[in-house]
Amino acid sequence: MRTLVPGAAGKGEIPVSQGSLEILVNRIKQLPALPAVVHHLTEVTEDPDATISAVEEVIRADQSLTAKVLKLVNSAFFALRSRVSTVHHAAVILGLDALRNMALTVHTYECLAACGRNDTFDKQAFWEHAAAVGIFAKKLATAAKYKKPDEAFVAGLLHDLGKVVLDEYFAPEFAQALAACRDEAIPLAVCEERVLGFDHGVAGAEVGRKWRFPAQLVEVIERHHAPPGANVLSAVVQLADTMAKAWRIGASGDPLLQPINSTVWKLIPLNEQALRDIVEASRDEIAQVQELFGAEDDQQQPQPPQATTRRASEARGSGERVAFVTTDKAPLLPLMVYLEESDVAVRLVRPEQPFPADEIEYLVVQMPDQPSALRVKSDLVTNHPALRSVPAFCVAPPCLPSAVVADLRRAVPASAPTR
Ligand SMILES: [Fe+2]
Ligand SMILES: [Fe+2]
Repeated sequence: MRTLVPGAAGKGEIPVSQGSLEILVNRIKQLPALPAVVHHLTEVTEDPDATISAVEEVIRADQSLTAKVLKLVNSAFFALRSRVSTVHHAAVILGLDALRNMALTVHTYECLAACGRNDTFDKQAFWEHAAAVGIFAKKLATAAKYKKPDEAFVAGLLHDLGKVVLDEYFAPEFAQALAACRDEAIPLAVCEERVLGFDHGVAGAEVGRKWRFPAQLVEVIERHHAPPGANVLSAVVQLADTMAKAWRIGASGDPLLQPINSTVWKLIPLNEQALRDIVEASRDEIAQVQELFGAEDDQQQPQPPQATTRRASEARGSGERVAFVTTDKAPLLPLMVYLEESDVAVRLVRPEQPFPADEIEYLVVQMPDQPSALRVKSDLVTNHPALRSVPAFCVAPPCLPSAVVADLRRAVPASAPTR
């Protein structure tokens, strides 16, 4: 099937064949180049003999970058005790790679800020999601003892940048994918693949190649919806992405939680409480980073961050009660939080331990298929007869939280409290 979509910057109609990677590459050529300062910095910092003065010289030649670097260095993101007023001081404290990464993120954001055509894709919420993923990724990387946590911040901040490009250069197809994701509860990357023949990971990686991002960053962007293997950077970005969605911080156009691969938990050995602590400790930093990247220019009065974050305790009402049957909390945590943020009270259940079964309205069982979930339920009913009439749901790929929430809502009796 051939369709016509508007070309970039109103340059006329360009024929698009479904699945054409070539068209993607051609359209991405229309993006402006990143400022030369970013490439200079990459070259300088890749030199093992690079000196602070050489890097300082490159950054100071770009006044707006200097201002943004100093603003970022002094933000809660770095939590420094004393104020940093020179690029030299920033370089001494943070290191050359951190400065290069700052330049990369600041200019990438500026180049993409004007992109976007669909009203249904909320750019402000998108950058809030990106900021949250960046901050979470940095903290998860530190917990996983990854040597360069600021690299994880950049990877988290930019992991979804392909969506901005699709929104600009493939607007009708992207709108179709967003609608399918929302209406059919199918992951956005799958919908994009169906409509375009490639997903936002591929589009983002193509931009990264054009802008000469470090190879590792391009790889994480390209494969952030694929199993991470032994790649710690990919693992922290995937978990950070899921956490941002679970806690409803910003919106990425795809509310469905990506199932977390078991290798992620091996690479990031954190328990449930540690993940919750990371989120609570990150709220101010997310707002600051969002403000930093969201500000049009430094002269403007900073707008209060449009944080859409809510604590579960604020959101939770007298909603449905759900029991999760599981033996391992952490892998299910994002899903539990997602339900809590949907006014669903969650209780974790160990089949062998007693629990107040008469308080439970729905059972969610972590199993590969519905028949298995029903088997678990029938075992539970032996010890907890009150569960006999309680509906059971199965959570496993591709059963994703919004589909589960929708099922729960459909199953709620008319008399049950609603939001
Ligand atoms: Fe993504
Ligand atoms: Fe994302």
